[in-house]
Amino acid sequence: MARQKSTFVCQACGAVTNRWQGRCDSCGEWNSILEEAESAGIGGSPKTVRGKSGRIVELVPLSGEEKPAPRITTGVKELDRVTGGGFVKGSVLLLGGDPGIGKSTLLIQASAALTHHGHRVVYISGEEAIDQVRMRAARLGLSKATVKLAAETSVEDILATLAADGPPEMVVIDSVQTLWTESADSAPGTVTQVRASAQAMIRYAKQTGAAVILVGHVTKDGQIAGPRVVEHMVDGVLHFEGDAGHQFRILRAIKNRFGPTDEIGVFEMTGSGLAQVDNPSAMFLGERNTSTPGAAVFAGMEGSRPLLVEIQALVAQSPLGTPRRAVVGWDTSRLSMILAVLDAHCGVRLSGHDVYLNVAGGLKISEPAADLAVAAALVSSLAGISLPSDSVYFGEISLSGAIRPVAHAPARLKEAAKLGFASATLPEASRKTIKSSDLMLTSLPALTDLVAQIATGSEIMTKETNEP
Ligand code: TYD
Ligand code: MG
Repeated sequence: MARQKSTFVCQACGAVTNRWQGRCDSCGEWNSILEEAESAGIGGSPKTVRGKSGRIVELVPLSGEEKPAPRITTGVKELDRVTGGGFVKGSVLLLGGDPGIGKSTLLIQASAALTHHGHRVVYISGEEAIDQVRMRAARLGLSKATVKLAAETSVEDILATLAADGPPEMVVIDSVQTLWTESADSAPGTVTQVRASAQAMIRYAKQTGAAVILVGHVTKDGQIAGPRVVEHMVDGVLHFEGDAGHQFRILRAIKNRFGPTDEIGVFEMTGSGLAQVDNPSAMFLGERNTSTPGAAVFAGMEGSRPLLVEIQALVAQSPLGTPRRAVVGWDTSRLSMILAVLDAHCGVRLSGHDVYLNVAGGLKISEPAADLAVAAALVSSLAGISLPSDSVYFGEISLSGAIRPVAHAPARLKEAAKLGFASATLPEASRKTIKSSDLMLTSLPALTDLVAQIATGSEIMTKETNEP
């Protein structure tokens, strides 16, 4: 009798080894390797088929008629913006996010919005019972929506149900971790099962043209297969993020085969579901205390959309030998770089100080253009001088201490003017690209000029008028 072979699969990265080990060699994760039965089912390694020649496929040139991807728009503007104009038919999207962030809420709202436009939507819940989903829908005031609901986890049963009911335009699977298929022998939740189930749903989407949305959990715990393996297989990956202490939620595209990946959608979790935020800048600046030192408003860009956020810094004498550096919403190594540049080129010594940096509202910023605002907040806090409350900052700082130009300066300034700001501090090179602005512009060539500007509490350094 043939012995059932088993392999050892890392539940974090999907690497396969032939013996158990405490730490995965591929990704370095501890205690993530589980024994799984080897299978040749979907997602398993393909068996070599002997004696059968392959089918000949037609080879076509690279150029040809291209059609825009057919899309179904949800009418939820922030969601459509992130997907690049709606869900693409026949595509598979993975929506990831921490537990309780609002993934199910977002998808039930999107499903209901689609049914209002006459689309057929099936919502398969593998995590919650029908009653729980109904209770949430009732809370959201969506009980009347014609979303078809099922609580099921078997891929075979789901596919049979979908085939019997007629093809829907969208299928939501909440969540991919709960799915299991008979074609893989491993236990539900393992990498093999998740991969095989996702593969089956992807094939279903391609065959029928339905848009499939898979919900994926992101856990630190190695027990549940992370959706990382699935990320490579799907057409798009969306992340729903937010901070437990804030009601703001940000939807971000990490991967998108049919659209941009730098757009964000901003939502607010309210008592009756997720509300779209039309003016995120106003929201992120909402709770601002304008008179304290250490706060600078950064005129940022998220994709094609300008976004103003407050950067808060606190610099305090440190009793410790190695002072603390705590950063929320920004890159720690980028902060170290700014501190080093301030020290080396501007004589601003922070090596004996604890530094705390926070991006208000729970937003995460990755733009280098935030450098200038961060530096302004740090210097302001150290000097105890508050920055003008009606001023915005943007610009990248180079290691030489120069302030480098950044893209989209006009859009940033326009947003600031719209929100009632009166002045902006920006890189000198960016200033040249601006024809006219309602703001008073202060263009700075180097970081030392910013330090001097704050220290003198004025904007006389290289003050320019609004006329071009
Ligand atoms: P949920 O969509 O279940 O999160 P996920 O599917 O990502 O795990 O949302 C759960 C949280 O959202 C829960 O803590 C309660 C909160 N919530 C509201 O604040 N308002 C609402 O209208 C709803 C439906 C949920
Ligand atoms: Mg959920």
